[in-house]
Parts: sequence; C-alpha cells; structure tokens
Amino acid sequence: MDMLNRPRRLRGSATIRNMARETRMDKSSLIYPVFVREGVGIREEIMSMEGQFRYSVDMLPYALEEIARSGVGSVMLFGIPDEKDECGSGAFLEDGIIQKALRRAKQECPELCYITDVCMCEYTSHGHCGILDGEKVDNDKTLPYLAKIALSHAQAGADMVAPSDMMDGRVRAIRETLDTNGYMDLPVMAYSAKYASSFYGPFREAAGSAPSFGDRKSYQMDYHNRKEAMKEILADVSEGADIVMVKPALAYLDIVREAADMVNIPVAAYSVSGEYAMIKAAAKMGYIGEEAMICETAACIYRAGANILLTYYAKELAKFMDEGR
Ligand code: PBG
Ligand code: ZN
Repeated sequence: MDMLNRPRRLRGSATIRNMARETRMDKSSLIYPVFVREGVGIREEIMSMEGQFRYSVDMLPYALEEIARSGVGSVMLFGIPDEKDECGSGAFLEDGIIQKALRRAKQECPELCYITDVCMCEYTSHGHCGILDGEKVDNDKTLPYLAKIALSHAQAGADMVAPSDMMDGRVRAIRETLDTNGYMDLPVMAYSAKYASSFYGPFREAAGSAPSFGDRKSYQMDYHNRKEAMKEILADVSEGADIVMVKPALAYLDIVREAADMVNIPVAAYSVSGEYAMIKAAAKMGYIGEEAMICETAACIYRAGANILLTYYAKELAKFMDEGR
C-alpha cells in the first residue's frame, strides 16, 4: 500500500504528541475575574456560579493570596456597591467599592496585576451601562463618566483599565483623560467586540447588574454580525486601545480568529459566566468531565488566536497548563 502520509505517526505517544503540539498555553496569560462587595467578613458563594464568591474588602486578601499561589498573575475586579443612583456615582467615589478594594489589594498582595472593569451597570439604579435620556442610553453624555471612572481607578492603584460599556468613542475619552492626568503609561484593555449575550446571565445575578427594563441590544453587538466586530476592534485600536477583547469566547471563536489575524496587538478572549455555568452544571450532573472540559475549551480558545484568556477557571487552568494538559 503506497500511503505516504500517515498523520497518526505523530499521535503514537504522549511525548510525540506533545512535541508536535501546535498550541501551547502558559498561565501568565490568564486573568481571573473577582467580585468585591461592601460589608465585613463576607465570602458568599454565587448561586449561579458555584465555586465563585463575592468578597468584602477585608476578606479579599485571602482570595488574592490563593490566586497568586495558583500562579495566576492578574485579576479583573468587579465592584458591587451597596447604593445605586441614576448616574452610577458609586463607580467613581474615592471610597467606592473598587477604589477601596484596589488600595487594600495593592497593599496586601502587590505581586498581582489589577485590572478593573470600567462600566456603570453595577452602579446605576436602572442597571444600564450609561446615562439615560428617557429610555435610551445617551452615548456622548456617558463618555465623561466613563473617563472619570477610569481615572478614579487609576488613582486608586489600578494597573490597567478595561471599559466594558460599549459606548462609541470611550477608549479615546478614557485615553485622553488618563494622559492629561499623568497616567500615559496605564494600559487600556478594551472590551471591543462585546456581544449582547445570554451567556452573561449568571454574571448579572452575581453582580446585581441586570437592566431594570429593556436589554443591552442598543449598545452591545448583535450576535449575527462578524464584520461589525472588526469595525469595533479597529476603532478601539485607532483610539489607543493596548489590548482588544472578544466576549463571549466559546461561541465566538470565528471572531477571535479574525481579530487575531487582523490586529498587531494582543487579543484577549473572555470566557464568560454562562460558559463557566454550563460546564459546572453539566459536570455536576455527571454528563461531562469537568477537568477535561476546562482544558479542551481553553486550548480551543487559544488555538483560535487568543493571546490572553479571562476565565473563572483560571486557578484550575494554571495547574493544568503547568502539567502540559
Ligand atoms: C459589565 C460587564 C458584564 C460582563 C463583564 N462586564 C455584564 C454585562 O455586560 O451585562 C459579563 C461577564 C460574564 O458574564 O462573565 N458591563
Ligand atoms: Zn455594563
């Protein structure tokens, strides 16, 4: 039989398979999302995200030390305030929840890199990601607020800011404000191609950030669209974004690939709460193996072109990556 090509030759042993492996993962590319809330002595499990917790500021250092010990180098902080108002002022108060968390974290666990989610939905009484004009989110009125939030995070010690609101022009507004206030070296990771997605359901329960009316379709992207994602990404690059993000990850790997091929800056993918919850729930039912799913889904996201991965499984993944799984 004259068969010259036998791809199975490189699959014969673990050693050869690993030698020939195309996608290699490193835990230094992981970012772990953490929820911080008001209160004292609180470490409460999030119902929709088993294994994930909301921490009060005093309990946060314990969580951070565990993250650092796992080998994960970066966290994404989400704040859950006690009080909300029309314009989300809790997001930029000097003693707002994120600002307090940042100061404490930088003091107690300075070896981690602290990235903050810059948005208003956790802080507004209506739960939308910007300032309302009637029932509509007013893009241009929202921009100065986002810039103010990003600046207050920088002043409280953030190492990077990550706007997730999807207003047009926000990267530029944030960049200009950071620059004029002496933070020209602070990187911006833009949630550039962020889709209006049902995969955020568990997060909204975790953060109490569901909109009180309507949905986010007038500012987050329509999941039927691909070219528009490239438009969003190019816009953010031109406005000074240092890292662009695609979100969600798993159902959007075509977008991750196209973004990775198009831009010359790092591409991050956010494997969101619903992706985590699906694996958790199916594993709990005994339908799938959790560890195997964690490894396979992560590898596939990197294979699609992601350079950075945000995931609620970051601690587990750090270990699996070290093991070469
Ligand atoms: C805030 C924000 C959301 C997520 C990250 N930042 C929720 C939303 O847009 O409704 C989702 C993260 C996740 O689901 O894990 N705008
Ligand atoms: Zn938001």
